[in-house]
Amino acid sequence: MPESQITKNTIFVVAGASGDLAKKLVYPAFFSLFHRGYLPQPTYIVGYARSIIDHETFLNQVTENIPKPADDPTFPAKLERFKAILSYQAGSYDDPAKFQELNIYLESLESNYSGSERNRIFYLALPSTAFVQVAENLKKNVYTSHGTNRLIVEKPIGSDLESALELVHAISQYWTEDETFRIDHYLGKEIIKAIPVLRFANSVTSGFWDSKLISNVQITLNESFGTEGRGGYYDTAGVIRDVIQNHLCQVFSLLAMERPSQLNPTEIINEKVKLLQATQPVNPENVLLGQYIGYLDDPGVPKDSLTATYAANVLLINNDRWYGVPFILRSGKALNETLVEVRIQYKDAPGSLFGNNPRSELIMRIQPNEAISIKLNIKSPGFDSGVVPAELKLNYKAAFPDVFIPGAYEVLIRDVLNGDHATFVRNDELEAAWKIFTPILHYIDGKTNDPRPVPTKYEFGSQGPPELAEFLAAFDATRV
Ligand code: NDP
Ligand code: BG6
Repeated sequence: MPESQITKNTIFVVAGASGDLAKKLVYPAFFSLFHRGYLPQPTYIVGYARSIIDHETFLNQVTENIPKPADDPTFPAKLERFKAILSYQAGSYDDPAKFQELNIYLESLESNYSGSERNRIFYLALPSTAFVQVAENLKKNVYTSHGTNRLIVEKPIGSDLESALELVHAISQYWTEDETFRIDHYLGKEIIKAIPVLRFANSVTSGFWDSKLISNVQITLNESFGTEGRGGYYDTAGVIRDVIQNHLCQVFSLLAMERPSQLNPTEIINEKVKLLQATQPVNPENVLLGQYIGYLDDPGVPKDSLTATYAANVLLINNDRWYGVPFILRSGKALNETLVEVRIQYKDAPGSLFGNNPRSELIMRIQPNEAISIKLNIKSPGFDSGVVPAELKLNYKAAFPDVFIPGAYEVLIRDVLNGDHATFVRNDELEAAWKIFTPILHYIDGKTNDPRPVPTKYEFGSQGPPELAEFLAAFDATRV
């Protein structure tokens, strides 16, 4: 067992316990890990936030989004066992005295432990404006000297390069890089975790992974819903800060990095950083922006907002492997489908022996319904001698029906317990990613040009801005 693995006597403190992220994603992940036996023995989960709520209300908030399977008669008992490890403390984020009270409360829970080891994991499920004061107060008042302390930090980390560096620096005054786990939940998704294996454990893929054969790579995150009450936050972010600079950029770096010399977090992240450093900042000419019709009706959104709810950005890499291959990162809200996928489009087969055939593709479907498939041209079956495209598909649910595929937050909380940094964002990685996107963000925000670009309107439920097909065609990419 790695020395950094936490297996017993642990308290998770969720700061921002009354919030949307905690309720929707963090508590259900804790429940899943708890009843599968993946949490240390014993574990306590303590919610901390300003809201004054009683124990029952907190229990209801924690359990309201836990899926309740109708076919599991043991579920009510599991839920009761889980409730027994939950409690809530109200307190402000800036008053050291409240954190000292929290510390005393944690010590009272720890007095039940056998042995002297005491581990504390602090989850900042808070708006980033509160990160630094909470990180400071936790370090000064709630840090244990009897075991391991870890700090989980949510996105967004900054809104551009400068603010990100400031935030990283401010937190690093209290928490070491080794103690800090910056979440990008896309790194916990099954197919994204599978990318290095697919690439480096198969010569059939690793040999076909460069500009000689690949025409373009499309990384797509489409959502069929709008901002749905998150307009206040979303309008200050826009789609590039919300999902492209982080989630899609992570997928990009795993797809394009060189082979790490060893499978450890340092070597893997070193390769990602080198790749990001070789990537050119996004050129405004290589960006398409859109805003869905109806976005301005979200109560949190100003009526004249120019925030993009859709963007396609082309990333170009200055290295031998990828020179000239466009990586098209695109995402939008209020589209015709919810789909996250990677699509690697190979160049057309040389010559035209069989006429103009669709190009071959390698497709990784991240969600829904994880799958990996290859599209090839085959002879039309039967007497016909024509050519038809066909798909060789590995559908995870069909291929591994009995395997539990954990959700991203389950994976990442477990990785924090294991002290595995490979699925978290290192400070230099964050910096390199912001360097790629900060110039285009400043351009879009009107800091480096006037007037601000106006995103094209698109219909709710459509495929995005009408110019999308033309935009993709300019990079030799087919719309799918
Ligand atoms: P919320 O707006 O729900 O905030 C969480 C809690 O923080 C609130 O319940 C509130 O608790 C407290 N809070 C709210 N506003 C402030 C403020 N201005 N200053 C101090 N405390 C405040 O946020 P989310 O739960 O949605 O998100 C938390 C973090 O996770 C954010 O960094 C977000 O970007 C990130 N995130 C969220 C996702 C989601 O789906 N919601 C997805 C991915 C990341 P109280 O008033 O009780 O103290
Ligand atoms: C979050 C964004 O980080 O990621 C949301 O803030 C987006 O706007 C979400 O919907 C997408 O995550 P997932 O796991 O639902 O694809």
